[in-house]
Amino acid sequence: MTSAAEPQSLLLQMLDPAHRADPYPLYSRIREQGPVQQPGSNLTVFSSYADCDEVLRHPHASSDRLKSTVAQRMIADGAPPRPFGPPGFLFLDPPDHTRLRRLVSKAFVPKVVKALEPEIAALVEGLLDDADGSFDAISGLAYPLPVAVICRLLGVPLEDEPQFSSASALLAQSLDPFVNLTGAVGAGSEERMAAAVWLRGYLRELIAQRRRDPGEDLMSALIHVVGAPPACGGESGDQLTEDEIVATCNLLLVAGHETTVNLIANAILALLRDPAQWAALRAEPARVSGVVEETLRYDPPVQLVGRIAAEDMTIGTVTVPKGDSTLLLLAAAHRDPDVFDRPDDFDPGRPGIRHLGFGKGPHFCIGAPLARLEAAVALTALTSRFPNATLAGEPSYKQNVTLRGMSELPIAL
Ligand code: HEM
Repeated sequence: MTSAAEPQSLLLQMLDPAHRADPYPLYSRIREQGPVQQPGSNLTVFSSYADCDEVLRHPHASSDRLKSTVAQRMIADGAPPRPFGPPGFLFLDPPDHTRLRRLVSKAFVPKVVKALEPEIAALVEGLLDDADGSFDAISGLAYPLPVAVICRLLGVPLEDEPQFSSASALLAQSLDPFVNLTGAVGAGSEERMAAAVWLRGYLRELIAQRRRDPGEDLMSALIHVVGAPPACGGESGDQLTEDEIVATCNLLLVAGHETTVNLIANAILALLRDPAQWAALRAEPARVSGVVEETLRYDPPVQLVGRIAAEDMTIGTVTVPKGDSTLLLLAAAHRDPDVFDRPDDFDPGRPGIRHLGFGKGPHFCIGAPLARLEAAVALTALTSRFPNATLAGEPSYKQNVTLRGMSELPIAL
């Protein structure tokens, strides 16, 4: 464990946009420091595979930010505990996490997701029909596909996309660890708050419409969940409150907008940088699951996650005191040479690719089967239709640290 000034300055560099295109050399330097624990900061940063894996599975690792000493201090100073109502279940612990996750899980089990394949394939073909010689892989494929799918699943009208896409992008930025690393909110926090209020209002109106006129969608299903009484074998309290429905739809809409786009785009970029891999996937579409899993390891769409120690928690040789926050640098853990041979090589042929790209433990990504399917369909169709595609320029990156991804990926088809 290190607690000198150098690790602190390395961590702050994570926020510097200059590292966005290739943060991996910086992550390696952070990982070489071991766990970083700054006295007085109530924060421990883990970046080895073993440590991140252990925290994700630890029974005292909480996802509820209200359990942190820093949040408790702010509440004592008069800050409202939950200014927008309950958060999405990503940020809740049992029993609420368990109850809400169970209600949503049914819509994302592999069998239900697999049935969407023809529709996903038709969406991809339609998008690729519109592609001409020069193509931005983000606006032409990687973004519109997952957005259309999540809107269709939730029952959110795709025509409203221009309105809620900017709100979703701003909410994605609020996952960046500015407060953890600097003690202050990053620039633009008022805009992000306004986006959060707007999106919740938008969803509230949509929920009111679905209440009157239900559809075959997840939002209608959540509105109409009725818990069977315990006497009939049901669990009482299965219903969701209005605020919980809003928070759950909000979580799914943002997750559907801000993650799969980066999986598809990061895979396209890695394949184009190694044309033999592009050709290999075209020749053998069954390789696609290796490509998807290796992208989740090599260039993961979710670069870090956070946890709070609900009790004192010992990870390896480090004790995180109760109430302290932890950051788990998954993207650094995925290049850990103790676990991976040639960690900096993109090699879809690795045997049994391990990664934490969808998390691990009780909060393991509910959308994983859907994201895998969308990426597999998009990548096989793209390589099959455009065997000679090449990079037509350097990609541009958004500023996001946590949900890191490109804003533009120019390709010559
Ligand atoms: C490539 C795409 C995706 C990646 C890399 C990804 C990654 C993750 C990760 C790392 C977590 C765990 C966070 C933590 O432990 O704190 C997570 C949770 C979650 N993801 Fe995804 N995700 C993706 C796509 C999706 C999609 C398409 C949806 C749904 C439409 C979704 C819904 C969720 C939800 C609801 C959770 C919270 C689960 C819980 O707290 O129990 N994700 N995701």
